[in-house]
Amino acid sequence: MNQILKHKKVTVVGAGNVGATTAQLIAEKNLADVFLIDIIEGIPQGKALDMFEACPLWHSSSRVVGTNDYADTANSDVVVITAGLARKPGMSRDDLLKANADIVKKVSQNVLITSPDAIIIVVSNPMDAMAYVARKVTGFPHNRVIGMGGVLDTARMRSFISLETGVSPKDIQAMVLGGHGDLMVPVYRLTTVDGKNISDVLSEEKIQAIVERTKNGGAEIVTHLKTGSAYYAPAASTVEMIETMFGVKSDTLPCSVFLNGEYGINGVYVGVPVKLGLHGLEEIIELDLSDDDMAALRKSADAVRELINKLDI
Ligand SMILES: NC(=O)c1ccc[n+]([C@@H]2O[C@H](COP(=O)([O-])OP(=O)(O)OC[C@H]3O[C@@H](n4cnc5c(N)ncnc54)[C@H](O)[C@@H]3O)[C@@H](O)[C@H]2O)c1
Repeated sequence: MNQILKHKKVTVVGAGNVGATTAQLIAEKNLADVFLIDIIEGIPQGKALDMFEACPLWHSSSRVVGTNDYADTANSDVVVITAGLARKPGMSRDDLLKANADIVKKVSQNVLITSPDAIIIVVSNPMDAMAYVARKVTGFPHNRVIGMGGVLDTARMRSFISLETGVSPKDIQAMVLGGHGDLMVPVYRLTTVDGKNISDVLSEEKIQAIVERTKNGGAEIVTHLKTGSAYYAPAASTVEMIETMFGVKSDTLPCSVFLNGEYGINGVYVGVPVKLGLHGLEEIIELDLSDDDMAALRKSADAVRELINKLDI
């Protein structure tokens, strides 16, 4: 199984909570060899060796290597950027803007030199603005720099709908678009429970409560953890994107991509439905959105633009 995929090389930058969990899932699923890199010495090496020693138990032949040297990551097929600060209680994703922009700049410069043909998946927050930074610094074509946010927001929404209805999340479809922030846009028309539209299954009040909980999904976890932010679902969402790129899955996913007039939006990264493949972004799907959803999407894009304008890039 996965024999063709075995020799893919994925680098995960940042060996913290999201990075290490992403590396673990890639190795556990035997998706690729994984190189985990961080500025802290010892942490990527120790975590990677520990994962590698679990591979026989996972029936996985992935190599898992920890390093502080980008030379080891050379010629990666995919580079996942999770390096940066995570939110603490009371912090918004935007509070991380300048600190993480500096980190993502440095990481992107290294990726450009060592893996010039890679597809970059940006996870570091505020993610849509950080994807813009990574694209700008590397000069990579837009199809090769993609942000992870909508897959996570959509998974959160499906899990909350499941909690409310008792229906398995696998029978629940949803699509959350827009920037990965407080202005995310859940598209009701595409939200179905056992094939029925959500409006036929739940009251407007319950739907609104689910939408609010989804918008605050990240903050809810930060409040519990106090010392960091979510990582199991973010890592699973990132790996979903990689599986789709490698052809293991074929779903349309909401991802943050650079828009060039699609949805009437220009020059920013924002979450829209896309097809991913071996070259990264293969197609942007232009849905026929309601006027309200379209207005919400544009407002969300404006918020991302404001962040980008605050950056010296
Ligand atoms: N897009 C999303 O949906 C989403 C979801 C969860 C977390 N995040 C973001 O992902 C980032 C990572 O979160 P986390 O919980 O893993 O944080 P963490 O603190 O556990 O790990 C971050 C790691 O980055 C490393 N790092 C810092 N600067 C670096 C550099 N220049 N090069 C390499 N590594 C460097 C740190 O040493 C640390 O190990 C945060 O910005 C967080 O807000 C985004």
